[in-house]
Amino acid sequence: MEKKYARDSITIKTAQILPPDTNALGTLFGGKLMAYIDDVAAIAAVRHARTTCVTASTDSVDFLASVNLWDFVILEAFVTSTHKTSMEIFVKALTESFGTGEKKVCATAFLTFVALDENNKPTPIFTPVEIRLTLASLPISSVMVSVSFFMNALPL
Ligand SMILES: CC(C)(COP(=O)(O)OP(=O)(O)OC[C@H]1O[C@@H](n2cnc3c(N)ncnc32)[C@H](O)[C@@H]1OP(=O)(O)O)[C@@H](O)C(=O)NCCC(=O)NCCS
Repeated sequence: MEKKYARDSITIKTAQILPPDTNALGTLFGGKLMAYIDDVAAIAAVRHARTTCVTASTDSVDFLASVNLWDFVILEAFVTSTHKTSMEIFVKALTESFGTGEKKVCATAFLTFVALDENNKPTPIFTPVEIRLTLASLPISSVMVSVSFFMNALPL
C-alpha cells in the first residue's frame, strides 16, 4: 500500500502580530491564534488526503506563552495519524521576538480533520501516514510524552 510520511504534509505559516490581533493585555488574542492553527492544520490535511477536508474537532490546544505585539508567530502542522476518513493533525506554534529573534514554543494543538468527497460526505483516506519514530516505541505512552515528542520532532 502506498504510504506518505508526516513530512509530506508539513505546512508552515508565519504572521506578525498587529494591533487588531491583540487582547486587553496587548498580547495575541487566543481566538486569533486558534484561527491560525485551524488554517495551517487544514492545509496539512489536504496535503495528505488531496481532497477537501473539514475540521471535525479541536482535540486540545495548550497556550504555553503569550505572544507580544509586533512579534512573529510561526506555526507548523503535520498529519500524525490517519483513520478511515479522519486524520489527526499536530500543530506547534512558536513566537519569535521582533527585536532579538528569540524563539519559544507558545502553543501546541491536536485537531481532527475529515476528508470529504465531491458530495461533501466523508470519504476514505487510502494512504496511511508513517512517522519514522512511532509513539509505541517510547517507554511511556501519555499525552505529555506525545506532545513533547512532536514538539521536538521538527527543527523549528
Ligand atoms: C465532520 C463531519 C464531516 C462528520 O460527518 P458525519 O456524517 O458525522 O461522519 P461520520 O459519523 O461518518 O464520521 C466520519 C469520521 O469523522 C469522525 N468524526 C465525526 N465527528 C467527529 C468529532 N466531533 N470529532 C472527531 N472526529 C469526528 C468519525 O470518527 C469518523 O472518523 P473515521 O471515518 O476515521 O472513523 C460532519 O459532522 C461535518 O460536516 N461537520 C461540520 C464540519 C465543519 O463545518 N467544520 C468547520 C467548523 S467551522
